[in-house]
Amino acid sequence: MKDGISVLTKKVLNQVLIFSSLMVLTGSIVLLYCFDIFPKESKSIYDITLLDDSAENEIIKYGHDLFIETPKYIGPDNINSNLSYSGNRLACNNCHLQSGTKPYAAPLIGIVKRFPQYRGRENKIGSIEERINGCMERSLNGITMPPNSKEMKAIVAYLTWLSRFSPEDGKVSGQGFVKIEVPNRAVNIEKGKQVFELNCIVCHGKNGQGVKASGRYTYKYPPLWGNDSYNNGAGMNRVITAAQFIKANMPFGTTFDSPILSDEEAYDVAGYINQQKRPSKPHSENDFPDLKKKPVSTPYPPYADTFSISQHQLGPFQPIIEFYKQEYNIVKTK
Ligand code: HEC
Ligand code: HEC
Repeated sequence: MKDGISVLTKKVLNQVLIFSSLMVLTGSIVLLYCFDIFPKESKSIYDITLLDDSAENEIIKYGHDLFIETPKYIGPDNINSNLSYSGNRLACNNCHLQSGTKPYAAPLIGIVKRFPQYRGRENKIGSIEERINGCMERSLNGITMPPNSKEMKAIVAYLTWLSRFSPEDGKVSGQGFVKIEVPNRAVNIEKGKQVFELNCIVCHGKNGQGVKASGRYTYKYPPLWGNDSYNNGAGMNRVITAAQFIKANMPFGTTFDSPILSDEEAYDVAGYINQQKRPSKPHSENDFPDLKKKPVSTPYPPYADTFSISQHQLGPFQPIIEFYKQEYNIVKTK
């Protein structure tokens, strides 16, 4: 009898021990998670292949396909040719890297929560659809997609899915591009060319024309200028923006925390690329109805200042930045 009780007690004690160890373990994991010791935004939460085939997920997946293989669906020679919204063969993913999740490659996590948003280019509050169409008309050198089209709805569904864990205000770390110290001098085109030859030609080609992916609609290495590139109205055609993108992302594989190029090299190579021939944005003179809002490195006039077009394209930008500070009390960073 005595032995029976002690066996029972031992059993109970053992179970209590196992149970409390489990509780402590769970508690610690919760604590670690709360204190950000585990990354909350682990890769798998943006892994599209983990979605099942529900109708809702099908739209998200179509949005993701459009993002990765844009020209296949809406490019100049797409599979259903009545849908040529984009005018070149770039994909969203060529600039918003890793399906729009890479830090400092203008990631789109949280984006739908940052809209509607005031935009200087139009001087009005714009919707997420209008912002996407901004890239359609410029980065993709195309025309606007109707907000009610299946394609626009799918892209928005994908961006909404990407934003599902981001804070209410949509602000995330790694948003936009890295800040660089903009050299207080004009771009040195000759240096830019050297940087290009040393670091970029191997993929983007001698004439910046890129390399098509064989048997696909997209590029393996996208063009940096020429007919199939972004037009002069694109954000990437501003030297400061391009330099920031390049600094944290190129040569391909570069990350913001271990950049390959110096700020000076990124600045010069951005200037070199953006001086080459590319399509021009129709009606670009109507951009920025309030000209004071125009970024200093916007390469096309008119301007609310008297600096030359060449200085707006190639710098030095400090005097222009200083002018807006003095004259209008506007602090410009791009
Ligand atoms: C040639 C490069 C390029 C391509 C291609 C491109 N974008 Fe962009 N996109 C940019 C740049 C650069 C910016 C930031 C512009 C700025 O700083 O004003 C941007 C900004 C955006 C923004 C706003 C981001 C923010 O943080 O406010 C959205 C949304 C967007 N792009 C969606 C798209 C979609 C969708 C596609 C494909 C249909 C696309 N982009 C294709 C370069 C590109
Ligand atoms: C190892 C190959 C490789 C090298 C080297 C490389 N790139 Fe890229 N680059 C890419 C790829 C691939 C993409 C598109 C990324 C994607 O779709 O995932 C890209 C995209 C870009 C883009 C945006 C898309 C476009 O076509 O405008 C720019 C700008 C760019 N690279 C500039 C540069 C510059 C400048 C250098 C040299 C400093 C460079 N790249 C070196 C592979 C490379």
